[in-house]
Amino acid sequence: MIDGMKILCAPVQGVTDCHWRNAQNEIFGGPEGYYGPFMRVEHGEIRKRDLADVSPENNTVPVFTPQVLACQPKDALRMVDALTEMGYHTIDINLGCPFPPIALHHKGSGLLQYPEEVETLFKELSAVDGVTYSVKMRLGWDDATQWRNIMPLLDIINPSQVTVHPRTGRQQYKGELILDEFGAMLSECHYPIVYNGELKSLDDINRIKKQYPSITTVMIGRGLAEDPAMLCPEKANADNYCELHNRLRDAYTEQLNGGEHQLLMKMKSLWENFLPNAPRKSLKAIKKATSMAKYNVAVNELFYSLEDDLSDNDGQ
Ligand SMILES: Cc1cc2nc3c(=O)[nH]c(=O)nc-3n(C[C@H](O)[C@H](O)[C@H](O)COP(=O)(O)O)c2cc1C
Repeated sequence: MIDGMKILCAPVQGVTDCHWRNAQNEIFGGPEGYYGPFMRVEHGEIRKRDLADVSPENNTVPVFTPQVLACQPKDALRMVDALTEMGYHTIDINLGCPFPPIALHHKGSGLLQYPEEVETLFKELSAVDGVTYSVKMRLGWDDATQWRNIMPLLDIINPSQVTVHPRTGRQQYKGELILDEFGAMLSECHYPIVYNGELKSLDDINRIKKQYPSITTVMIGRGLAEDPAMLCPEKANADNYCELHNRLRDAYTEQLNGGEHQLLMKMKSLWENFLPNAPRKSLKAIKKATSMAKYNVAVNELFYSLEDDLSDNDGQ
């Protein structure tokens, strides 16, 4: 696909669940590995749906790495225990989530401003036998130099890789990428750095390869959520997109057990990312649908018009 570059699928909570990952991999493929959206402990228990999402029988992709949200050591250890019991030996630690209700509770990217807490967490995690960790992080919470205090602590867990989204948590998912700090981290970090951020096409990946010759792995989030065929343009056709959509609708119909309103909300949320360049009229009709019957009509129309658009482009 792109010589010398390994491509990983990033976790996107609410999109890249096991159903999406399995369908994307079978219909389109492209990524060499897939990361699960973060698991977390709520009211003292690991959320049931998080456990179902990572359970090996629900995951058919070739390489799947579950992720835990960096948080209080006792909660992190609980998740690590559950994952090792399922047979996982590589676990990703999320130090990047910018969502304020999480970050303000010293979790995800919010923890980057508290190196002492990161140190305690890493020490406890490193005591678990037989687990290799990777880390997914930002440059900082509210200051893009905070990684400098975190970097020496990585030696405690000796991560297999460090994925970096070159923004601060406060920036959320918008605004300038802070590439000078990213470049500094790349040159100072002795663990493999995976680049993650705003890769929406094969050209974007090639650009990173040229800009940072030492980077051999990139991770892609929204690019694949928007266009699951991003890495294999020859498979970008209405039939394949429709197949992915229908597999998800079937899976959520079963999961939500007949709750039409919930199913409608879940399916509409898919379109917050999926195929943003589809005809606007159809996207609007999907957003406005008040029942699954209306939703299905709108979706069918969208795929018909997409088929016409794509075949028009072929003829040019
Ligand atoms: C809605 C949403 C949910 C996300 N959920 C997670 C998550 O669970 N774990 C994680 O590490 N990153 C999560 N991310 C961050 C992405 O993995 C990725 O780092 C970020 O979107 C930047 O990469 P991109 O520009 O390729 O999308 C999420 C991003 C979005 C937009």
